[in-house]
Amino acid sequence: MTTDIDSAPATDIPERLLLGSGPSPVPPRVLAALAQPTIGHMDPAFADIMAETIALLREAFQTENRATLPISGTGSAGMEALVANFVDSGDRVVCGVNGLFGERMAEELRRAGADVVPVEAQWGRAVPIEQLLEAAVGGRTDAIVVVHGETSTGVAQPLEGLGDWCREHDALLLLDCVTSLGGHALRLDEAAVDAAFSGTQKCLNCPPGLAPFTAGERALEKLGRREQPGRSWYFDLSLVLDYWNPGASGGRAYHHTAPINMIYALREALRIAVGGDWLPTTWERHRRAHHALRDALAVFGCERLAPDGEQLHPLLAVTPPAGVDEAAVRSALLDDHGIEISGGLGPLAGKLWRVGVMGAGARREPQEQLVTALATLLDAEPDEPLAALAEGWRA
Ligand SMILES: Cc1ncc(COP(=O)(O)O)c(C=O)c1O
Repeated sequence: MTTDIDSAPATDIPERLLLGSGPSPVPPRVLAALAQPTIGHMDPAFADIMAETIALLREAFQTENRATLPISGTGSAGMEALVANFVDSGDRVVCGVNGLFGERMAEELRRAGADVVPVEAQWGRAVPIEQLLEAAVGGRTDAIVVVHGETSTGVAQPLEGLGDWCREHDALLLLDCVTSLGGHALRLDEAAVDAAFSGTQKCLNCPPGLAPFTAGERALEKLGRREQPGRSWYFDLSLVLDYWNPGASGGRAYHHTAPINMIYALREALRIAVGGDWLPTTWERHRRAHHALRDALAVFGCERLAPDGEQLHPLLAVTPPAGVDEAAVRSALLDDHGIEISGGLGPLAGKLWRVGVMGAGARREPQEQLVTALATLLDAEPDEPLAALAEGWRA
């Protein structure tokens, strides 16, 4: 083992094409940003990087919210921050549950002492808006929470009507958009979402480690009405905002040591995502990539779980071909071809392949690699699925 701190880093990391449920492929530009020299978290030069990151995040979320920043931690930290700041103990909260991440959200809300009203739908279907609103009018409701992109099933949750209802009834609309941000049409301000969180490792093509987060004035007003500080010090937005200073005036107060290099990486990833190929182009590219891959996999006999109109473009969940050992094929894809795809979760374990169509993975070349490798492993001719893929990209 070498002890020379200036020597090259370990190179025992295998080469992978990440087409699973996340993380997604990280472009060399983003990895290079991550490897830049670490500077101090109170350095004025870092403040400029923070300001640019905030501006790019606002664009990504399609929001004007002052309180927009990356929470230090993975997507789950964003969920904890959302609940810790905007849900009080005893609040009545209607929560859509149609997959693993809805279940997780309901559990987080329960742990926060909320009176959770779960509105369940079959895994693989969206939660009907009418059912969410019916549950909401069943008592004084403080918040409605839904998962916009349910990664466990590849379903996109419609939001129409939820934001207006919340505004009329003094409730907050809170959103998990971990898998949808940057890959599925979502305009937070237009949808009247009060607060939302995401993750860096899906459609933004950044390593995991930060949770993009945004909160509007209605949510901040509720936070400001608290008589006692919330139970979480780390995620207390009023303290975190003093460090991020999104108003861009005055100084910044130390709260915790920001993960400097991850913020370099996020800024670079956002410069790519929110740069030339941005809205609505990026949404359209994800939509085409989703449909092209769906058509190609259909040739092998795979069927999409989500019905038309409810599909989440960045995550294609399909049934494996009949009679195929799905886990064995996934292992061989990784071991023999260096390609990662994901399996089913919970009640769908062993019954699904979940293929990421995220950011740099939502392009024709990586999909061709996947389709070609699958053809080899399934002992099928690649020409027909590759032609379906090409046709899908032309459509
Ligand atoms: C919809 C959704 N919410 C929350 C999370 C949790 O994020 P993380 O694993 O980054 O903590 C994930 C992770 O895949 C997710 O897909």
